[in-house]
Amino acid sequence: MRKKVIAGNWKMNMLPNEAMAFIEALTPMVKDTPNEVILCVPYVDLFYSLLTSQNTNIKIGAQNMHWEEKGAYTGEVSGKMLKSIGVEYVIIGHSERRQYFAETDETVNKKIKAALANELKPIACVGETLEQREAGKAIEVITEQTKLALQDLTKEQISNIMIAYEPIWAIGTGKTATSEDANNAIKSIRQEIEKLYDTQTAESIILLYGGSVKAENSKELFTTSDIDGGLVGGASLKVEEFSKIVNFQ
Ligand code: 13P
Repeated sequence: MRKKVIAGNWKMNMLPNEAMAFIEALTPMVKDTPNEVILCVPYVDLFYSLLTSQNTNIKIGAQNMHWEEKGAYTGEVSGKMLKSIGVEYVIIGHSERRQYFAETDETVNKKIKAALANELKPIACVGETLEQREAGKAIEVITEQTKLALQDLTKEQISNIMIAYEPIWAIGTGKTATSEDANNAIKSIRQEIEKLYDTQTAESIILLYGGSVKAENSKELFTTSDIDGGLVGGASLKVEEFSKIVNFQ
């Protein structure tokens, strides 16, 4: 049985004092969940969030990293730096980074490799635009993105990766993919992984859904055959709402 994972992506929100207050409030609300709870926070919140989440079941992730370890890359943060302060997870290739910061399937692949080399667990994002969906190309787009993201990775490495399917038209719009559509898309990612690796690897990889996940739709999404949890944006900024998503059962 795959475990369920609920990851919040705060995007560019929350000051350090707000992050600490949020984690303090969330801690008792999620302490008995069987699910894995992750908060992916802005760089400046990482250290404060790590301190506040010590001795809790809340794990902390970053939202991006550079693929080089160090060097003349003004404004960037490396995987080695994230690891050095105790970060465990890192989102790679979110559609907002692909759209606004020119990330490509190639940089996504480089970042995943660098994350793994630094013993960080990447949450790699894939997802189609509305135009691609309307042209009937959604499955083709996401299986291709999956293949390119995982290029040259061994099946041992795959066991430390999660993939989040986030249809771009569902992010921040209030439009959620139906649980059936989302499950089918995620199933196609699992089938692609079976093709690239083997059945056991495909059956064990954690695949998340993201895009307007809320307390009211989380149970329906997360109890389908192939969706193992969610990457939650807006609803992860409200502690009550997020705790309900974590406790969706
Ligand atoms: P929303 O939940 O706000 O739609 O954002 C989804 C997302 O982008 C999570 O990474």
